[in-house]
Amino acid sequence: MIGASMIRILAPAKINLFLELHRKRPDGYHELETVMAAVELFDELTLEPADSPAAELDFSAEWDGDVVSSAEGVFGALPPTEKNLAFRALALLRRRVVETAGKALAPVRASLLKRVPAEAGLGGASSDAAAAFLAGNAFWGLGLSRDELSGLAAELGSDVPFFLEGGWAICRGRGELIEPLPDLPPIWVVIYRPPFGLSTPKVYGRCVVPETPERPDALLDALKRRDEDALAGQLVNRLWAPALEIEPRLGGIPKAFQDVGIRAHQMSGSGSSYFGITFDAERAQQAAQELRSRLVGFVAAARGGTKNACIDLGDTLSS
Ligand code: C5P
Repeated sequence: MIGASMIRILAPAKINLFLELHRKRPDGYHELETVMAAVELFDELTLEPADSPAAELDFSAEWDGDVVSSAEGVFGALPPTEKNLAFRALALLRRRVVETAGKALAPVRASLLKRVPAEAGLGGASSDAAAAFLAGNAFWGLGLSRDELSGLAAELGSDVPFFLEGGWAICRGRGELIEPLPDLPPIWVVIYRPPFGLSTPKVYGRCVVPETPERPDALLDALKRRDEDALAGQLVNRLWAPALEIEPRLGGIPKAFQDVGIRAHQMSGSGSSYFGITFDAERAQQAAQELRSRLVGFVAAARGGTKNACIDLGDTLSS
């Protein structure tokens, strides 16, 4: 039987600085082009040998009580275990390995501590799934390659493969084709998640594919030059219009960011989170503080596009 010692890893959030739709596919998904940065706002996943061999996969997920004040309202609801993407990732990994290699895997206890708001367009659940694939691969000593893990990751969700890499990337296809962008600089991200979430399929269900899609070149150029004014004019999210239709309360958020001195701002993914970008640490902290006093909901300032905003298995193997 294959098994290992305890593993604890951090799963970052993400934001989309650019999200353009190219076409709707026959399978219902949309071909898109999106520029993503992983953000140092983390969930935490722990795998450890289970005491009872009866439970092959003992899974629990909870909001971190130290960070999350009124979890359900502001952070969204956690799904039941069988729908949790981290649980599904571990179950998929087990099934594939047991089916294809006929190996018996040690029982595992997985505990997920949540800090990234849900139904927020921040990729929390997708990141948890990527963390589960990486941690499971190490825990059971499976030796699956990044490509193999990426294939499994895409089965669970379009955003999951991105989190196997983290940092900066441009993603295409339905989001699962990743081109890392290692030359982009770190940014400061001010994130606001209002006290309501948005359903991704619902937002995509109302989107309109443009005849002439926008391109991300000017955005990438503004990022490389760390030019906040240029950046302000180049952020794109094609899902903003349908999200606003579904949830008109989003309408006042851009002005709130503008009023606290953040020029480059937009919604992340399919919402409901909204973010601003600056290269100035102090401005980010100050803007977050001001937003906290003006808006009801979750507000955080965190670095993004950094080496730390990656799922790192480095020091996690302990005996
Ligand atoms: O891949 P994921 O499960 O995260 O997607 C959730 C839903 O979002 C899909 O069922 C689909 O309705 C929509 N979606 C889409 N095009 C994408 C990604 C997601 O239409 N590229």
